[in-house]
Amino acid sequence: MSEQKATNITWHEGHVARADREQLLGQRGATIWLTGLSGSGKSTIAVAAEKALAERGRLTYVLDGDNVRHGLNANLGFSPEDRTENIRRIGEVAKLFTDSGVIVFSSFISPYRADRDAVREIMADGDFVEVLVDATVETCEGRDVKGLYKKARAGEIPEFTGISAPYEAPEKPEVVLDTNSQSVDDSVAALVAYLEAEGYLGKG
Ligand code: ADX
Repeated sequence: MSEQKATNITWHEGHVARADREQLLGQRGATIWLTGLSGSGKSTIAVAAEKALAERGRLTYVLDGDNVRHGLNANLGFSPEDRTENIRRIGEVAKLFTDSGVIVFSSFISPYRADRDAVREIMADGDFVEVLVDATVETCEGRDVKGLYKKARAGEIPEFTGISAPYEAPEKPEVVLDTNSQSVDDSVAALVAYLEAEGYLGKG
């Protein structure tokens, strides 16, 4: 689905560069890519981190799997091919947001290492921060906030990540948040501290 189909198309440069937009906003764009099992805490951490950065005057945006699958990716399911296409589209959207100067928190299981690496590849160095939201299947199943693990165990949801479909953890994520033991506040504090230390949040 990702081959270049259109021909006779030419890239059109604008008059305002990314650096100009970043100067306007007083921040640098980046994609903070949260990956992990369903129920590991990705979306909870993403929205809390967004709030924490908003309080510091930073413009952010959350791209969330369940939400994006209602619109842009409504025509995709959970087969390996559809998940790959899901992540490819989100990667391109995140790249656009990053180019706009916004700090993006993306919250998708993104179970395949190759798909996440492909997103890293289309981004400039340092624009892609991979965050493993690390919780065991037992932890996630114990929470089962959406009741999906119960359904998956009952055979009502095919290809459910962690139960009947694989999850490939990143080998070298920039950040690991162990949500088996850590509170949401602690995970957010650790993430924000990383972004600050690496210069993603600028001054002030
Ligand atoms: S991904 O694997 O393609 O990255 P994504 O993050 O967009 O998945 O969507 C995952 C969300 O869809 C889960 O949090 C859950 O609410 C829902 N879901 C429905 N069916 C499945 C399934 N078979 N596997 C995983 N999640 C599913």
